Amino acid sequence: SQTWLIVPAAGQGRRMGADKPKQYLALADEQPVLAHTLARLHRAFPNARLVLCLDNDDRWFSPHWVPFITWQRVSGGNERMDSVLNALHAMAADDNDVVMVHDVARPCITVDDLQALYQAAATHPAGALLAMPVADTMKRADNQCLSARTEPRDGLWHALTPQGFRYALLRRALETARQQQTLVTDEASAVEALGERPQLVSGRRDNLKITHPDDLALAAAILAAQAA
Ligand code: C5P
Repeated sequence: SQTWLIVPAAGQGRRMGADKPKQYLALADEQPVLAHTLARLHRAFPNARLVLCLDNDDRWFSPHWVPFITWQRVSGGNERMDSVLNALHAMAADDNDVVMVHDVARPCITVDDLQALYQAAATHPAGALLAMPVADTMKRADNQCLSARTEPRDGLWHALTPQGFRYALLRRALETARQQQTLVTDEASAVEALGERPQLVSGRRDNLKITHPDDLALAAAILAAQAA
């Protein structure tokens, strides 16, 4: 059986307010976010097959940043889930192959977390996701940004990536979500909608998703601290 990695990288990254998508901004060692993310994935899974989702109008991508021997490029879709579905439809996977989906915007992912997630995804029939218990007190706002109440935080987790599932389950979950027009922001929510319960794997707090301008310097500092 094969191990697959899907990296959705077809987003515009509008919240960054930069002149190019955030995956192409320089992060460290004069390498863009995308190169760092792919290097981390390759260190953990050198023999995996990579499917990279890129926008058709992407002017910045360079294949030099791809360390994998076996990889393919697919077109992005309107939403993240459409990009992942394009990947699932393009790849020649067997139903039982483990497929891990990882945001290009999370370059600080560690080899240890990747291996822990893979183990859980391969073991658990409903798959697994890296996640982090909520530490802050959670507020429910009304539509005027007034704090209406406090939500109990026990049992609440932040969903991170990667998230890993058997190919057949992931494909069925996302196809069902698209048919029913449920907008899902991660793979696990589509699997949950089938009545399955993916395993939460406690991941590192420094698995930051680069979203806002400040996040780039923070991610660079995390990479430096991890290397020290
Ligand atoms: O914008 P956000 O950070 O939530 O996007 C999460 C991931 O999904 C990013 O890696 C982004 O490039 C990707 N994406 C995509 N296709 C889209 C939208 C987002 O591949 N249509």
